[in-house]
Amino acid sequence: PRSARPEPDGDVTVGGVSLAEAADRFGTPVYVLDEQEVRDRCRAYRDAFPEADIVYAAKAFLCRAVAHWVREEGLGLDVCSAGELALAVTTGFPPERIVLHGNAKSPEDLSTALRLRVGRVVVDSASEIARLAALAPTDARQRVMVRVVPGIAAGGHLKVRTGTDDQKFGLSITDGSAQHAVARLLDQPHLELVGLHCHIGSQIDSVKPYVAAVRRTVGLMARIRDQHGIVLPELNIGGGHAIACRPGERSLDPGVLAVRVRAELAEGCPRAGLPVPRLTLEPGRAIVGPAGVAVYRVLAVKETAGRTFVAVDGGMSDNPRPALYGVRYAPRLIGRPATAAPRRVTVVGRHCEAGDIIADGVALPGDVRPGDLLAVPASGAYHLSMASGYNLVGRPPVVAVADGGARVLVRRESLDDMNRRDVGL
Ligand code: LLP
Repeated sequence: PRSARPEPDGDVTVGGVSLAEAADRFGTPVYVLDEQEVRDRCRAYRDAFPEADIVYAAKAFLCRAVAHWVREEGLGLDVCSAGELALAVTTGFPPERIVLHGNAKSPEDLSTALRLRVGRVVVDSASEIARLAALAPTDARQRVMVRVVPGIAAGGHLKVRTGTDDQKFGLSITDGSAQHAVARLLDQPHLELVGLHCHIGSQIDSVKPYVAAVRRTVGLMARIRDQHGIVLPELNIGGGHAIACRPGERSLDPGVLAVRVRAELAEGCPRAGLPVPRLTLEPGRAIVGPAGVAVYRVLAVKETAGRTFVAVDGGMSDNPRPALYGVRYAPRLIGRPATAAPRRVTVVGRHCEAGDIIADGVALPGDVRPGDLLAVPASGAYHLSMASGYNLVGRPPVVAVADGGARVLVRRESLDDMNRRDVGL
């Protein structure tokens, strides 16, 4: 986090709270979230895009407090299940500021969204239109958008690229399935088509693909106007803005994105004879990722086959990203001064897989030993939200730090929690 301050004794404070003390008080592994940074990141998007709606992608990390913070900062919420939706509304999140996503929405997802009258349902398939129309109340018109695929390759990893035709999300502009869905939606008396949505991928560190996506979707809006005589008032360009997980990696600056997207709309819309649509963005990772740090305790250090392995008390159950995408992090020793020359080590988790690797070839003090603490920056997004119960280790707690104080937002998963659903012999 930006508020991280190294102390002379080797400790690091975040939000004015010592990470070593947090580790002692809350146990390890522990995820520490800097509340002010989450709020500042929301504000940075609002400042960069005062003309747009900013919707936080809850899949990055959701708990009641985070829903509350982003609402207070004026953001909406992107949810993709009845579960995320239910959690949000229990915090008083206004349903009209919620967007429902998903390529395979369950009957419960759809009916909950309709009952609560969420702001937008983003339709992902022609079959979903029929299902949504059948469930829609007849005394209102549910606002919907169509998720279209602009045919753009962008994103940090193949598994998170969603702008090209060869993946499961959305409807292709290239083969006309997007246009077909638009025509079907316009026939539905209880659904109101308000615009197009596209989300081209994640960990995208350049503005160029966004500009291209805007150009293609505005082109489609012009064709819809020509074909149906309607002007769609809204355009949602999704999220996907990169953060740096390690020193040297590039992040995407919302201010730079705003300038380029605004310029493309200001040029492309008049050229197509369209008004500039109301813009929505859906950042997830860029809101919470850099604000979170994971703190682990070293359980084992060993040298074998020419390598030094440093094993910690968490791993792929709390952060599956290395195993899924081959991502590597940059842990650092905290809580005591470095007293030995650095050496290259491989930091691994405690789980029963060789692919449970947090960092490879990183420098740690040569005398790193069991009991030491390692902090892993950039841990706020897609770690705990994708956490699993692998090896029944129990998911770590989430602790918010602000103004020198720390409080638990989500407590550690206990053995009881884990075994509760196991009904026995
Ligand atoms: N909008 C939609 C429709 C999305 O599907 C996503 C992310 C977002 C917005 C937010 O994207 P963000 O700004 O967070 O990149 N588990 C992967 C990332 C998957 C992203 C899924 N969709 C990872 O850990 O890298």
